[in-house]
Amino acid sequence: MNSPPIHGGNIIEEARHRGIRPDEILDASASIVPFKQPKALNDSLIKLIHNNSIRNYPDCTHQSLKEAISDWHGVDSSMVIPGNGASELFTWAARNAADLGVSGLPTPGFHDYKRALQCWNAHFINLPLPLRWTSKSPQPFPLLPKTNVIWITNPHNPTGQLWTKDSIKLLLATHELVICDEVFLPLVPDGESQSLLPLVSNHSNLIVIRSFTKLFPIAGLRLGYAIGTPARLSEWGKWRDPWPINGLAIEAGTLLMSNKVMLNNWLTKIQSWVSKEGAWIFEELKCIKGIIPHPSSANFLLIESDHQESLIPLREKLVEQKILLRDCRSFPELGASYLRLSLQTRQGNRRIISALKKILK
Ligand SMILES: Cc1ncc(COP(=O)(O)O)c(C=O)c1O
Repeated sequence: MNSPPIHGGNIIEEARHRGIRPDEILDASASIVPFKQPKALNDSLIKLIHNNSIRNYPDCTHQSLKEAISDWHGVDSSMVIPGNGASELFTWAARNAADLGVSGLPTPGFHDYKRALQCWNAHFINLPLPLRWTSKSPQPFPLLPKTNVIWITNPHNPTGQLWTKDSIKLLLATHELVICDEVFLPLVPDGESQSLLPLVSNHSNLIVIRSFTKLFPIAGLRLGYAIGTPARLSEWGKWRDPWPINGLAIEAGTLLMSNKVMLNNWLTKIQSWVSKEGAWIFEELKCIKGIIPHPSSANFLLIESDHQESLIPLREKLVEQKILLRDCRSFPELGASYLRLSLQTRQGNRRIISALKKILK
């Protein structure tokens, strides 16, 4: 691969490039939970294929899915729009942002907001965030120069900082539009208490975006949703193609959101995994010479070279052992001296730690 990847999870490309199978790679580059999907989900998808339901066009109203999502979050279904991943919804949020003036993008940050804004020739500026954080969680969102629109990621990618609801709530009074990407929030222990979702009903300038893809994990199915005002979302509906979400994804999302017992159990399992493995790996990484782990509330964390040296050779050596970490050169504020690592099962985390210890001894 010539240029550094702008997303994690490029395991198909990476495997092709190295002449190995994707399933041989321990992928800690994309921040997707390392467990198998809930069994009920896989059973239901297999049944749908057997019943030949992919023969038909999907329900373009997404009504059952919208109802399941709105019921879970306690909002009206007119305030929900499902999308082909959160990424599709950034495209429509960016179209609104383009009409309002300058978007502020806290950096380093998720690359896709820029892609979405560039679709509409929107104006945007980078708003540099501090790169050093204490392990305090949640943190107040820092004071940044004022723009018309602000794109918040809570918890932030790639730094893993969880922002307090009270600090981001203040931005609703100063910005014409606040786009809050909460795709990782359900994975964070007690993360929901910092969500802006309860504020959407009373703030027409707020859009909250969530995703199914990392949590369940179904990144390959593509499914996310936005919560916003009915007027805004019905306008988005007019801009998109007639069947933006495939039938299997619609069924998967409906099943996952309507089985509340399963969903609650899943969330408990994922949050306790993040809490346990996040603490374990952080302590282990602290003991390895040459790298500094950064504190994070999310299911991923940054590691930095303690001498500002490039960690790309380290990443290469890990790839030789079929372990993939995220190259951070596509975050210009971080560059080659950082890598991002996503939490795995204890077995996977041990494999990463022991490979790092061997290489860096
Ligand atoms: C902060 C953030 N938001 C959104 C996404 C994309 O979500 P989806 O797979 O639902 O398009 C990612 C993927 O890496 C992400 O890091």
